[in-house]
Amino acid sequence: MCGIVGYVGPNSSVTVLLGGLSRLQYRGYDSAGIAVLGTDGVLETRKHAGKLQVLIDDVDALPLIDGQTGIGHTRWATHGGPTDANAHPHLGDDGKLALIHNGIIENFAPLKQELLDAGETFTSDTDSEVAAILVGRAFRESGDLTLAMRQVVARLEGAFTLLIVHQDRPGEVVGARRISPLVIGLGDGENFLGSDVAAFVEHTRRAVEIGDDQIVTIRPDSVEVTDFAGKAVETREYEIAWDASASEKGGWSSFMRKEISEEPDAVYNTLLGRVVDGAVAFPDLGGLTDEVLGSIDRIVIIACGTAAYAGMLGKYAIEAWARIPVEVTLSHEFRYSGPILNDRTLVISVSQSGETIDTLMAVKYAKVEGARGLSICNTQGSSIPRESDAVIYTHAGPEVAVASTKAFVAQITALYLFGLHLAAVRGSLSAAQLTRNVEELQAIPAKIAEVLVASEGIGQLAGWMADTRSVLFLGRHVGYPIALEGALKLKELAYIHAEGFAAGELKHGPIALIEPGQIVFVIVPSPRDPSSLHSKVVSNIQEIRARGARVIAIAEKGDAAVLPYADEVIPIPLAAPFFEPLLAVVPLHIFALELATAKGLDVDQPRNLAKSVTVE
Ligand code: F6R
Repeated sequence: MCGIVGYVGPNSSVTVLLGGLSRLQYRGYDSAGIAVLGTDGVLETRKHAGKLQVLIDDVDALPLIDGQTGIGHTRWATHGGPTDANAHPHLGDDGKLALIHNGIIENFAPLKQELLDAGETFTSDTDSEVAAILVGRAFRESGDLTLAMRQVVARLEGAFTLLIVHQDRPGEVVGARRISPLVIGLGDGENFLGSDVAAFVEHTRRAVEIGDDQIVTIRPDSVEVTDFAGKAVETREYEIAWDASASEKGGWSSFMRKEISEEPDAVYNTLLGRVVDGAVAFPDLGGLTDEVLGSIDRIVIIACGTAAYAGMLGKYAIEAWARIPVEVTLSHEFRYSGPILNDRTLVISVSQSGETIDTLMAVKYAKVEGARGLSICNTQGSSIPRESDAVIYTHAGPEVAVASTKAFVAQITALYLFGLHLAAVRGSLSAAQLTRNVEELQAIPAKIAEVLVASEGIGQLAGWMADTRSVLFLGRHVGYPIALEGALKLKELAYIHAEGFAAGELKHGPIALIEPGQIVFVIVPSPRDPSSLHSKVVSNIQEIRARGARVIAIAEKGDAAVLPYADEVIPIPLAAPFFEPLLAVVPLHIFALELATAKGLDVDQPRNLAKSVTVE
């Protein structure tokens, strides 16, 4: 949460910072602010509650000095409401130092009291201002900005990224990182800092990772990274795999609409290079060699939200294919439940951003307990892969809309690929079964493209339902996580009550919710499924119809058994049972998008949310 950008170089820092913030807005959009430092030693700040556009309009109306050093922040409020005063930057050293912060300083209360006792005054309710005043006081003593930062971070508890500039140090930005994300962008005679590479990808594709408990000082011609004790550390440079245009809206009305349209590519690109001669090929699974994978006797998948629903699908598939027990646990529950872990446990973390703090802390916990770690992640250079023995990158491309869509189908694809790899390593599927499953997966991109075309009428359906106050979603087995995903998307985008249930659970309570007119989406298993789930779900549909529900069925093309009982049927192409979720989810993503659009809501930046949850 909170987006951070820093710049030193010959160009207009106002332009660079506002451009960076516009790409980072998905990290938080309660307020935005920048501090710019001119070569003549003038520091100017401007900040506003509300979306970034409020700040941009203000800067257009009343330009700031055109300095060549600066920092910028887009906020997701934690301590103190979304007001002008609580927006970052915060000032220290009598207004000569500006600081921005992402994270939570857990011991801010005693530090604030200490500063109040020393006669300092505060203008905000934030934890961050404490750090600004502390660094300002430390700088006054030494005149060394990096040293001042080092002295202060030693006193802070919690997770944080801090960036500072001081008017006596033009051409210098100092950053510090503990748990919260920070990356360096290397330019030619200019350098950048950002919460993620989106902050500067417009200017450079060269990035450098910064580890935990490290401090970085950037100047136009130099980058110095040390640990919190001041010892120089080695860094790793990498090339950003996507260019700036990948994170542009490119003519689409919203990022979410664009990203749903990219779902076929997300699956296709995640498969790319990983299927050779009909078999899954993972040439580089780091420490997870075939021998290690052969010794694994239990898997725990950890993730949050949509990524956790992908994890549930991973569980069904891996258990069926590799015959290993798999549990799925929400990351924030994981370490508090005292999980039993050892070197025969594989902990698979699933995260689009690679920065979700709950998942990151769970991964670190599992590592300390001796478990093996595999990360399924969409973001190069992010924190979670760094803490894992191996990573399978989902190649969905940058996901900008706050609600995850294309990353979800890419995560399922990566989990399925891994499940098939594990089955091959352990010999639990025959060569013919492996090939059949790989072929099913390879057919998915074209089938999703078909669903996108077939879903064009959903906008009209959603338009009729714009006033609806509650929608339920039912699914069984692999349809169940899809029901949960359909409900989550509707809650977060359209702000209406939505719940997903395992259809079998209906008669154990939730059926009491059904009253005339209640809209229920049902994910219907294939009638070709050898289990009897299809007929059971059709019976469930009849039960809710008998009580007045309005049923929208997502069913296999040609499923005649559903037609008499559904008010609407959204057909999906034929696929083997494990692969249907990759198709069934698409109309649900579109439905949530269309309903939110019909209600006039901002689908890319829903209220109260941020894309990367980097505070616990
Ligand atoms: C829902 C959504 C969230 C994320 C969750 C995990 O649309 O986007 O539920 O899936 O916050 O985020 P990552 O995958 O970045 O760890």
